[in-house]
Amino acid sequence: MNAYASMIGAGTAFCDLRSDTLTTPCAGMRATMAAAEVGDDVYGEDPTVARLEGALAERLGKEAGVLFPTGTQSNLAALLAHCGRGDEVLVGERQHIRTSEAAGASVLGGIALWPLAQGVDGVITAQTVREAMKPEDTHYPVTRLLCLENTLGGVAVPLEAMRTAAEAGRGAGLAVHLDGARVFNATTALGCSAGDLAGPFDTVSVCLSKGLGAPVGSVLVGDAAVLGRARRWRKMLGGGMRQAGVIAAAGLHALEHGVGRLAEDHARAERLATSLRETGATVRHATNMVFLTVPEGGYGALRGHMAGYGVTIGGEAPEIRLVLHRNIEDEGLDAAVAGFRAFFTG
Ligand SMILES: Cc1ncc(COP(=O)(O)O)c(C=O)c1O
Repeated sequence: MNAYASMIGAGTAFCDLRSDTLTTPCAGMRATMAAAEVGDDVYGEDPTVARLEGALAERLGKEAGVLFPTGTQSNLAALLAHCGRGDEVLVGERQHIRTSEAAGASVLGGIALWPLAQGVDGVITAQTVREAMKPEDTHYPVTRLLCLENTLGGVAVPLEAMRTAAEAGRGAGLAVHLDGARVFNATTALGCSAGDLAGPFDTVSVCLSKGLGAPVGSVLVGDAAVLGRARRWRKMLGGGMRQAGVIAAAGLHALEHGVGRLAEDHARAERLATSLRETGATVRHATNMVFLTVPEGGYGALRGHMAGYGVTIGGEAPEIRLVLHRNIEDEGLDAAVAGFRAFFTG
């Protein structure tokens, strides 16, 4: 039996590397939630929600913010606010909006999603944007919006590349939206401010429930007119929440305590990547994520082996994603390092 086996609780992994959405609210966050001043936010009377929306809008240099239950709904409301039926959105082929939001904009809004080629580095070139624009012709949808994402699959896309793509879209008459689910991982890695990263965009969606550690919530920021339309869509989508200050308080706690802490996740991801490379494994590392290529036919064995160390891994082979987050501290990482080393070096 390995040294970590005794630390595994019944049904609870000691180190769960599947996603940073698995973070659970800490005691301080729970206390803040319990003490939150609340009102009916659909009536616009929840002071804590207003504070959170204002705090994020200010931090990202925008006029207004709207709190949503999820990042999916925030992105969807943004697309619906920017586009009408028969309009088209240009979106990177590997972005969450394109791959993992059930084509909600098409289903609910009659909006076409046009995929743009995107390297592993997440970059979309200006030429790619320009070539995807549809001419004024009744055969085509009306290209209306460009969507970018940062971080993209964990990769922090450089500011200059974001600006170049956004300017190409804007130059072609498009509005520009950023899926910034992990925008603070991006600013941490790039060493820039959230305002710098958000600058070229009309709207930005930020998730509080990933590495920042809140249990729920995303905020869409942008100018007041677009956000007014997004708020109306939120109501129609069933996302108007009443005493949501309880959730917003968690978001404020996450902003205050979670952003500065993300660098620890990035450092632990780097340590994990380095130790995996030392075993000869094929890995990529970006911000809080490590991408490990699993030997052919070996995934089941690897999962079982890691479970013995109290480590849960997931994702689709051959390249699986290992995500570091607030609930994995040095002890958990040590278990993962020991488990992978034993598996790969026998
Ligand atoms: C890049 C990105 N955008 C949006 C979302 C959607 O967020 P939610 O799960 O809150 O709907 C996710 C979720 O993992 C994501 O990774």
